[in-house]
Amino acid sequence: MTVPAPQPGPLVDEANAEQFRAWNGDEVQHWVTHIDRYEAASARFDPWLLTAAGLTATDRVLDVGCGAGRSSNAAARAAVDGHVVGLDLSAPLLALARRRAEAAGLTNATFVQGDAQVHPFQPAAFDVVLSRFGVMFFGDPSAAFANIATAVRPGGRLAMLVWQGMDRNEWLGVLFETLAAGRPLPAPAAGAPGPFGLADPDTVQRVLTDAGFVDVDLADVREPERVGADVDDAYAFMTSLGPTKGLLGGLDERARTAALDLLRNRLADRAGPDGVLLGAAAWLVTARRGDLGAR
Ligand SMILES: C[S@@+](CC[C@H](N)C(=O)[O-])C[C@H]1O[C@@H](n2cnc3c(N)ncnc32)[C@H](O)[C@@H]1O
Repeated sequence: MTVPAPQPGPLVDEANAEQFRAWNGDEVQHWVTHIDRYEAASARFDPWLLTAAGLTATDRVLDVGCGAGRSSNAAARAAVDGHVVGLDLSAPLLALARRRAEAAGLTNATFVQGDAQVHPFQPAAFDVVLSRFGVMFFGDPSAAFANIATAVRPGGRLAMLVWQGMDRNEWLGVLFETLAAGRPLPAPAAGAPGPFGLADPDTVQRVLTDAGFVDVDLADVREPERVGADVDDAYAFMTSLGPTKGLLGGLDERARTAALDLLRNRLADRAGPDGVLLGAAAWLVTARRGDLGAR
């Protein structure tokens, strides 16, 4: 009798074990269920990333933290005679990415499960590395970017979007403001693995420079996040988010109702003909891979 060999999991650094669990466990189900909305919410940032990446037809592209592959597939359309590798921790999101690429007839995009911090990249195999909000979760950003840098040929390009601080990102800040109900709520720590892990521009400069990138530049990009078609739709989505449930925990019925009314009113303030638009700010980070010998 042949017994199927145990499937080895990807190599994951201990510092990213929690993220691996989160992006493969129950929490990712919300992303899978609402993937179109998650991706479309940030759609106004897409042209910034693609323009900065300046893809040519023959480019070999690495998309780090590709999720369900929105940016990978856009890159594959541009690099028609090249290829794109989407790398991500999350098996459920990668399965979606593969299905979508196949449905779109994109034969030059492949998707690989791995931890960018320790993934055994083939040296200098890529002309461009890009990321759409997929690089802020590393337990050790210095180690992660040093590893990513090995994958890019000298002179190759980097273009990525990362969130600025929560004070400039109403799409999450609104939850902390309206659901506080008088409590001092600690904001997610800037620099900790999570949406604001690379919010500090000096950290980004240092980490990328230490990794061997040159000409590091951060451009301040402001675009709204579209969280719903109308107030009801946005309210249903925002109240289904994990952070909302966490923030409401511990409130009694009265405080909870008042907090949720406040949230609904804020969403109503932001509703318009294009849907409910919340303020958002990203760093568009660009750089070039330096010559290894010059380091
Ligand atoms: C906010 S989502 C962005 C996904 C996608 N780029 C998008 O725009 O929809 C962050 C992604 O980064 C991935 N990620 C987090 N840590 C990672 C790591 N160490 N290596 C590879 N991917 C990682 C997650 O699994 C998740 O899919």
